[in-house]
Amino acid sequence: MNSTAETKIRAYKEAVNKKLDEYLKIQYPEEIWESMRYSVLAGGKRIRPVLTLETCNVLSGSYEKALPAACAIEMLHCQSLIHDDLPCMDNDDYRRGKLTNHKVFGESTAVLAGDALLSFAPQMIIQHTVCDDSVKLKILEEFLINAGAEKLIAGQVVDIASEGKQISKETLDFIHKNKTGALFKLSLRIGAILGGADEKILTALTEFAEKLGLAFQISDDILDETATIETLGKTPHKDKAAGKVTYLSFYGMEEAKKRLAFLCESACDILEEHGIKSEVLKEIALSINERVR
Ligand code: IPE
Ligand code: IPE
Ligand code: MG
Ligand code: MG
Ligand code: MG
Repeated sequence: MNSTAETKIRAYKEAVNKKLDEYLKIQYPEEIWESMRYSVLAGGKRIRPVLTLETCNVLSGSYEKALPAACAIEMLHCQSLIHDDLPCMDNDDYRRGKLTNHKVFGESTAVLAGDALLSFAPQMIIQHTVCDDSVKLKILEEFLINAGAEKLIAGQVVDIASEGKQISKETLDFIHKNKTGALFKLSLRIGAILGGADEKILTALTEFAEKLGLAFQISDDILDETATIETLGKTPHKDKAAGKVTYLSFYGMEEAKKRLAFLCESACDILEEHGIKSEVLKEIALSINERVR
């Protein structure tokens, strides 16, 4: 990876980790905060908050304004993972190289930790973002729409309902677009709105995010089949066993890889076409094609 981009990404991750640690202070009743901290501070690639911070930075020259929202997006992502891993969902024992939340804290606390993160996240946006109220309202709307039954949850519902079934290409796209794409879109759009993007740039970055989100889930589906638990931090070979419809089950490995590479390239083209000069966004798009975890 380009070394300037790498240095920037490291700095963004450090800023996010520090702020998350600060927001998630242990208080009474300790159990719920410990459970929230366990999953949120367990590592993770932090790709979504990095996208938010860089987008704000490239448009406005600073990222700090987007830090509370970036942390909120990571909390929402962690919530989706805690619930996704539950026995009633994907039933996973490992996440980010550690036991899943319910394995350590029990199912009831894991469900509640997810609920708690989902409401604590927008609370952090409201309490800590320094911007006009109208802008704050706009980013909160983006957050709530993408977190909810119209987007992320819609994707998860159709993902679970499709297990063991033959589904159409449209349904597969619906699942990917919503269960994964929604959070990528949210990450770029909040960064763009806080960075003061005009409509044209906001639309371009939304398109960029859509390609990235789809590419990310295709690579996740590929890694489920090709990676080891040591590098992945979660149990591989689960999708086929659970009868999940994935890009691989639909298109096969070769075609899935081709589509992945094409999406990453065309995401970069969008940046180029609109004069969005961000090595970080470009490197992230390219790295999705090569990721190993
Ligand atoms: C996992 O996301 C869930 C998917 C959308 C495939 P990540 O691969 O970004 O997980 P972390 O945050 O690095 O653990
Ligand atoms: C991830 O899909 C979608 C969400 C968590 C919202 P997966 O179920 O494929 O993610 P992993 O493989 O468990 O990380
Ligand atoms: Mg799932
Ligand atoms: Mg899963
Ligand atoms: Mg997966």
